[in-house]
Amino acid sequence: MRALVTGGAGFIGSNLALELEKQGWKVTVVDNFFSGDFKNLTTFKGEVIPENVLDVDWAIRVPRPDVIFHQAAITDTTILDQKFMVRENFEGFHKILKFAIKNKAKVVYASSAGVYGNGPAPQKVNQELFPLNPYAFSKYLMDQYVFDLAKHVPITIVGLRYFNVFGPREQHKKKAASMIYQLYLQMKEGRRPRIFKFGEQKRDHIYVKDVVRANILAAESKKSGVVNVGTGRGTSFNELVSELNRSLGTLLEPEYFDNPYDFYQTDTCAEPQSAKELIGFKTEFSFADAVKDYVTWLESRSKLVPVTA
Ligand SMILES: NC(=O)c1ccc[n+]([C@@H]2O[C@H](COP(=O)([O-])OP(=O)(O)OC[C@H]3O[C@@H](n4cnc5c(N)ncnc54)[C@H](O)[C@@H]3O)[C@@H](O)[C@H]2O)c1
Repeated sequence: MRALVTGGAGFIGSNLALELEKQGWKVTVVDNFFSGDFKNLTTFKGEVIPENVLDVDWAIRVPRPDVIFHQAAITDTTILDQKFMVRENFEGFHKILKFAIKNKAKVVYASSAGVYGNGPAPQKVNQELFPLNPYAFSKYLMDQYVFDLAKHVPITIVGLRYFNVFGPREQHKKKAASMIYQLYLQMKEGRRPRIFKFGEQKRDHIYVKDVVRANILAAESKKSGVVNVGTGRGTSFNELVSELNRSLGTLLEPEYFDNPYDFYQTDTCAEPQSAKELIGFKTEFSFADAVKDYVTWLESRSKLVPVTA
């Protein structure tokens, strides 16, 4: 089987590209390195096409894939340039769909729990959507477009609304990396973990290894649709600090500060049934096991590559 992974130099894309290779797929990556990092691909064997999905010459440059895993996107939610965000994320997606339809390839693409805004938790796929920033709006446009398009095209398109993903190969995301990574860095230096007052905000934190599995399962789906990819459990920032303390063997108390954002999601938790029904997905890692696995990876990695904020 041949896969195209867009955004394959990024966090989720590189984990996915490497796992697909491990499972015997032939993998091509398209990534313009807007936020991605070559360090994520140093063990990757396939071809890397260093282009923007908007500009790549699809017909000539890209081998025909069986499945396109579209992960490429501007992922920094603090970028507020609306035209830029919609052009890169939504127009880029159009190019992918056109290429997929022409080649009768399946499409699995990354959507986001950002589309729910502060809608009530647990967030259900068919509830009203409130994207609160240009990034979330670009994902909202993708999902709306697919709901309609999927009825008329002869290919399968599956959208995965990831909740808060964390795990290996996210270092390059800097301030956009997961809370778990940010807090790990602070605690590793013996500093008190800084979290918004009073640490009760809940997020559905899902491990990247589970997200990779969801993508591979989605590639087998016979039906199109959009599903949540989360654990079905919100974890508070306070709980997150406790789990890191356990994994690191520390006893650091949180230091609380005011939340400066006016568009912050305070309670996210996936309703996981949609993913179970469409792609047979359920998380394998508990939050505690995922944090332990990740910290072990970070600790072994820090001996090779400096761990940086
Ligand atoms: N990490 C999360 O918690 C999370 C949550 C919800 C959704 N997502 C989605 O998952 C996908 C992967 O996110 P990530 O966390 O790995 O982020 P990331 O920033 O590490 O990866 C995105 C990759 O896409 C590349 N890219 C950006 N625009 C491109 C373009 N126009 N053409 C080619 N390459 C381009 C970047 O260089 C980068 O390598 C994104 O679509 C993101 O919106 C992530």
